[in-house]
Order: sequence, then C-alpha cells, then structure tokens
Amino acid sequence: MMERKTPSRVGVFDSGAGGLTVVKSLISHRLFDEIIYYGDTARVPYGPKDPTTITRYAMEALEFFMNFEIDLLITACNSVSAHALPRLRSDAPFPIYGVIEPGILALKNAALSRESRILVLGTSATIGSGRYQRGIRELGFENIEALSPSLFVPIVEEGIFGGDLLESALNHYFKGIEQPDAIILGCTHFPLIADAIQGYFPNRPLLIHSGEAIAEHLEKMGCRPGSTTETELKIFASENPEGLKRIAEKWL
Ligand code: DGL
Repeated sequence: MMERKTPSRVGVFDSGAGGLTVVKSLISHRLFDEIIYYGDTARVPYGPKDPTTITRYAMEALEFFMNFEIDLLITACNSVSAHALPRLRSDAPFPIYGVIEPGILALKNAALSRESRILVLGTSATIGSGRYQRGIRELGFENIEALSPSLFVPIVEEGIFGGDLLESALNHYFKGIEQPDAIILGCTHFPLIADAIQGYFPNRPLLIHSGEAIAEHLEKMGCRPGSTTETELKIFASENPEGLKRIAEKWL
C-alpha cells in the first residue's frame, strides 16, 4: 500500500496541454482529492528536444511543485518519463511516477501471444530513448516497430480529431506498416485521436493508453481519495494559463 496523507494531493506535470489526457483518467478513476497540474506551455513541444534540455526543464518544473505539499508527482509527459526520471527522483522529496513503466505493465497484462506485433508511437525523444522498445522486448515480444508521428501533436493541438488532414497524416506514417496487434499510445496527445489510429487498421488493434495505464497502476497500489467530494483540479502554466484552462474545459 502506498503511504499517503489525507486529503491526497497529486502533482501532474506535462510539457503543455497533452497531460490533461492523463488527468482525465485520474479523475475518472477517482484516485485523488486534488490534482495540481502544471503545463510548460511556454516551451512545448518537448518531443523534438534533446534529453539534456528535457531534463533541465523537468528539474525546473520540480521546483514549481516544491511549493505545494503533494503526496506524489506524475510525469504525464512520455518524453519526460523517458529521460528525466532518475534526476527527478534523486532530488524530489516525494515519489515520482512516469507513464512508461505502467504502459509496459499494461501490455504485459493484456492477453497477447508473444508473437504479436507491437507498434509503439511516441515523440522523437521518447522513441529515441528506446525505453518502450527495451521494456517490451524484456517481456518477450520480438515483433516491435517504433514510430514517431510528429505531425499528430500539432494536429491534435489544432483540435483536429478526424477528417481529411488527419487521414492523410495517418496514411503518411502508417502506409507500408504491417498490421499491429497492439499499439502503445506513448504520447499524451494520441489518446485524443485513438479512434482514428485504431480505425486505420482493419483488425482494430488493442490500444494501450498511458493515462489509463498509470491510473490503473496507482489504483492497484492502493491510491484512494481521502474524501468523497469530487476531484479538485488546479491548473498552472508557464505561459497563458487561461488558454490551458479553456483546453481543459473542452477535453475533460
Ligand atoms: N507531452 C509530450 C509527450 O507525451 C508530447 C508533446 C511534446 O512534444 O511536448 O511526449
């Protein structure tokens, strides 16, 4: 069981708005009383940046969370989870959870034969780290393809969740790819176009959503809210917090 105070307050960090997909899962699983969300909207996207820069930004975000008495911090951003966890963990006075291990664990728990084809989707930083690929290989899967469909991020940020533009982007990245049996949505933005991604392949592969995976993981670890009221969400951003709050109203 996880040691925690009551009421339970969690910090969620992301490069921008994308981590709200993780917040959505945390709220629907009703795990915490309060969520403090911080999006580094001034410097998004992290995906094309190098590991040193991503780690530096993450350490600055950690400073922000030091102002709150949080019980744990979730790095909703896959790019941060891929590169900055060891540094964050060595400096933080609270536990820090990334989204990559829970995603791999969710794949482990799915009823899939080890011959299944696994497609991992993430930013260049996430795919470049090889973290998902290594973890999946350690589970015994050998048919792994990893892809960085970078255009999906701005498309989602434009609020485009279907239609011709998204179809051509899907086709651009997925044509020539053998049908996967499971797809890891290893980027905060991809759950918002999950139906389009899944629908591209006639066999409708199983999707692993990192927000759901971390929520289920924390649930199994015994995370429960201390009160019966609804989860309170407080949103902060390095730039234009009002804009981020408007996105949250639309997405949540
Ligand atoms: N949050 C990022 C991730 O999940 C996607 C957006 C970005 O590139 O910053 O990797």
